Amino acid sequence: MSEVNFYINSKDKAGIYKEFLPQFHALLTGETEEVSILANAAAALHQVFDFFWVGFYLVKDDRLILGPFQGSVACSIIKYGKGVCGTAWKEQQTQVVPDVEQFPGHIACSSLSRSEIVVPLIKEGEVKAVLDIDSKEIASFDETDRLYLEQVADFLVKLIYQ
Ligand code: SME
Repeated sequence: MSEVNFYINSKDKAGIYKEFLPQFHALLTGETEEVSILANAAAALHQVFDFFWVGFYLVKDDRLILGPFQGSVACSIIKYGKGVCGTAWKEQQTQVVPDVEQFPGHIACSSLSRSEIVVPLIKEGEVKAVLDIDSKEIASFDETDRLYLEQVADFLVKLIYQ
């Protein structure tokens, strides 16, 4: 396999996501292994958006376990309903956290993380995993990120869990 480059011309966030998505789909379509898909999904998001931390936690029994990611060493287990990730699982909804210090029970894997977005991967009402992205800046994530990262999550659910 030759080196994979993403071609992005836009400067604004929505434009970057719009250019990213079809290339992301092309990269992963046809793949079947959960770990491989999530590993390259994390790498692609990291490569294009240069997120401080991007990765997946996978639902296993009554907890989340650390899955493929790009960034610094992170907590390996998160309990149901705990932290931003456990809350996204419990509420089955994306959590946009402009300031992690204001989120009750936020789990600080890195003291450098200041804002965060967590998007659940849901198949037929059941959360299978969450996509977690951290930023070193306050309020990095907004409704644009939610819109497009939910599209990323939907694509991954169809690819992996159908
Ligand atoms: N901050 C997350 C924990 C995971 S790390 O950010 C990678 C949380 O509160 O669930």
